[in-house]
Amino acid sequence: MEQYMIKGGNPLVGEVEIGGAKNAALAILAAAIMTDETVLVDNLPDVNDVNVMLEAISEIGAMVQRVDRHTVKINGSTISDFNIEYDYIKKIRASYYLLGALLGKYKHAEVALPGGCNIGSRPIDQHLKGFRALGADVDIEYGKIVAESEHLRGTHLYFDVVSVGATINVMMAAAMADGVTIMENVAKEPHVVDVANFLNSMGANIRGAGTDIIRIRGVQSLHRTEYSIIPDQIEAGTFMFAAAATKGDVTVMNVIPKHLDATLSKLIDIGCEVEEFDDAVRVVAKGRLRSTQVKTLPYPGYPTDMQPQIGVALALARGTSTITESIFENRFKYLAELARMGARVKAEGNSATIEGVDILSGARVSAPDLRAGAALCIAGLAADGITIVDDIVYIQRGYERFEEKLRSLGGVIEKVTNEKEAQKFRLKVS
Ligand code: UD1
Repeated sequence: MEQYMIKGGNPLVGEVEIGGAKNAALAILAAAIMTDETVLVDNLPDVNDVNVMLEAISEIGAMVQRVDRHTVKINGSTISDFNIEYDYIKKIRASYYLLGALLGKYKHAEVALPGGCNIGSRPIDQHLKGFRALGADVDIEYGKIVAESEHLRGTHLYFDVVSVGATINVMMAAAMADGVTIMENVAKEPHVVDVANFLNSMGANIRGAGTDIIRIRGVQSLHRTEYSIIPDQIEAGTFMFAAAATKGDVTVMNVIPKHLDATLSKLIDIGCEVEEFDDAVRVVAKGRLRSTQVKTLPYPGYPTDMQPQIGVALALARGTSTITESIFENRFKYLAELARMGARVKAEGNSATIEGVDILSGARVSAPDLRAGAALCIAGLAADGITIVDDIVYIQRGYERFEEKLRSLGGVIEKVTNEKEAQKFRLKVS
């Protein structure tokens, strides 16, 4: 039993260092096996999902050497197995990036088929459509995706939906296909660009990442590189909304402000002051927040991964707000938890109405998924009294030292593992 115990009421104030982007890291680690030379990856976030990906890579025979908490060396020359077991895909869906990486390099990959997850059904038809367009035979047998081909050949491909995962997965395979691949209607997220930059630093020839069309000229082999992962825009945004909800003053350090545009624009809409520096952003919330309308969209739109965090801030804003979730169908579960803290919320289909209240009150709540879990912690930090967050294993999948970083900003939050520690926390804060 691991829980966060939170005593709300302190505005969060200070500076917080943002780590490397988890979602970029997961794809880059998979791509790192595509050369037989040694790759060094830096600014790696030390979070559970990344550690599971490293285990998956090591399980198929790659050499994985942790240089320090945020740096790893990978050598894919010793890979002897092209099969990723269900255990990994069950823990992190992103282990499906090994499909594109193994198929590109060895023209053969077997990865257990991912199921749905807490935020929705999450089909992967676009990934498979891309591999097939490159000439691979793709079959689903005994719960596994088996993709293989004598030769992958360049193709012209139009994705039916804008998908981060499909864009990256097919881009990896196409990087080592014969000839030119043109992919249209691709995702433009910063981590798509980061993975393209990483592959290019290994000798791939990928142009246009960050626009709607990516053009890839396949190469025969890739080579060694040293690469530093971009900062995590979602971790940064989470701390910025923690500042907003607690009427605080937080500067997120080591970020790329451009990646945060949609989030910053919403923070300004709801009444925060925002100051941008070269690699930092300060968010100050003074009075009561204002209501707004928000719709999640692919980048550069407002990110679905920042939806629960703004939801919590809006639960405390003056007036009625609406949120439309257009990416995943099941991302409002946290609202029922928030209602237990006194929020006035109503979710119907893919939209939610939130009537702001003056104050939330502490309660025992469960993290339904990673981002929603972080959002409920923000709610606890803003609420009156003690909040207990269960199922924090979700939060640990994607936030490094989350409670420590919040504590360094003045938040009263501790991880407890048993009733005795919980009791100690209660005594300390009472
Ligand atoms: C990635 C992120 C996740 C983020 C999401 C959207 C990682 C590891 N995860 O997830 O945190 O919330 O982008 O920014 O990077 N779809 C299909 N068919 C497909 C693929 C996707 O219909 O083959 C649909 C999905 O159901 C969803 C939409 O496309 O409605 C976008 O999903 P996608 O961008 O693929 O998300 P992920 O890559 O899974």
